[in-house]
Formats: sequence, C-alpha cells, structure tokens
Amino acid sequence: MTDTGGNKTVLALSCSPREGGNTDLMADAALEGAVVAGAVVAKVRVPDLEINPCMACHACSRTGRCVQEDDMPDLVARMLSADGIVLAAPIFSMGLASQAKVMIDRLQCCWATKYVLKRHTVPDEELREARRGLWLSAAGMKKPDVFEPSLPTVRYFFGILEVKHRERVCYYNVDERGAILEVPGALDACREAGARLVNPPEVEEGEREWLSSLS
Ligand SMILES: Cc1cc2nc3c(=O)[nH]c(=O)nc-3n(C[C@H](O)[C@H](O)[C@H](O)COP(=O)(O)O)c2cc1C
Repeated sequence: MTDTGGNKTVLALSCSPREGGNTDLMADAALEGAVVAGAVVAKVRVPDLEINPCMACHACSRTGRCVQEDDMPDLVARMLSADGIVLAAPIFSMGLASQAKVMIDRLQCCWATKYVLKRHTVPDEELREARRGLWLSAAGMKKPDVFEPSLPTVRYFFGILEVKHRERVCYYNVDERGAILEVPGALDACREAGARLVNPPEVEEGEREWLSSLS
C-alpha cells in the first residue's frame, strides 16, 4: 500500500479457504467500516498466496529474514507497515484454520527480530504505538468458549507484529456459508470494529472480547 496520501492503512488477511464465507464477509464489512472512517484498505486472500510452512531452519535468528522465496516476505512487509491489521480466520478443529496458522508460523522472522536480535519489528515508534489489530472469527459449534484455545496464538500474532491495541469479534453457532448474514448486527459489529482501527476510542478498554451467536 503506497501513496496513501497520509491516510491510515488497513490490511485484511482473509484466511478461510471459503471465499465469500463467513469470515470473508466479516473481513469485507470491517474494511467497509475502515473506508468510511477514511482509511486506505487492502484485502489479501491468504489461501490464494504461495505460503510454505516454516522449515525451522532458524536462519532468521541470524538475519531477521526468512530464506524462503514465496509470497510471505512481501506479505510480512505489508503487515509491518499497516496502521491496522484484520486477521479473519475461522475455527477449524478447535484452533485457527491451518491457512492462518501456516502464515503465523512464518512470522518466526519477526519473533527472531524481536526476541533474538532484540530489535523492533516496527522501527517507527509512532506507528508502533498506534497500530491496532482486529481478529474476526466464526465457528460452527454452539459453544461460547470455542475461541478460547486460539486466543494465545492470536495474541502471539499481534504481539510479534507489535500491534498493541487488539479487539476481537467472534461468532459461534455460525456454520453454513453466509450464516453470518443471519446473525442480527454481526456485520455492523464488524464495520464498527473496522472503523475503530482508524479512529480509536478515546478511552482504551484493553482487549475487547465480544461474543454473539445465532441463538
Ligand atoms: C475442516 C473444518 C473443521 C472445523 N472445525 C470446527 C471446530 O472444531 N469447531 C467449530 O466450532 N467449528 C468448526 N468448523 C466449522 C467452521 O468453523 C464454520 O463453518 C465457520 O463458519 C467457517 O467460517 P468460514 O465460512 O469463514 O470458512 C470446521 C469447519 C471445517 C471446514
């Protein structure tokens, strides 16, 4: 995202293999909210990219960079320069969908930068302090705590990207493609959260944790 004319930038990482599915629709709604709030936005369909699994070679512990030549280095650069990051990732097998997890594993270069090389992954202090993140998720089970096992991974994801202000909008009991459209207020909640990536609340409430359901 270049030439943003001074506007904030929001990057959405839509990780579900189901294009037009629930989390993809949630990502679109969040970006709509961000656009209305004045951001320049971009959406990446993560399953469409070539992202190989981390090989655990640990070369990044020496250089801070990954040796693999696929789509990930460019994506990392985009993640590190955005003002707002949307992680749209559904629950598969009681955790994050593997498309999201492979991408997060490949952020080992950011982990190494931060914890081995002891450098900031986002060198610009102003950007670093202001960056905001939003996790959007859907899960089929009628189980309010279905998102809990994924929370450490999502916190880790935002942590190594130096995104300090985080929020989540997660809906359980949402299974069929487009079921999120039937949840009253769900996409409006995503729009509002997307807008908050651009115009933060005056009083921070820490990590917001919202749950809702069809029932
Ligand atoms: C392989 C696979 C595994 C799934 N595992 C779970 C699960 O463990 N718990 C759950 O609540 N839903 C599970 N689901 C249902 C999805 O979370 C649900 O359909 C969600 O709405 C998908 O979001 P999407 O349309 O963005 O892909 C699974 C779906 C698939 C395809």
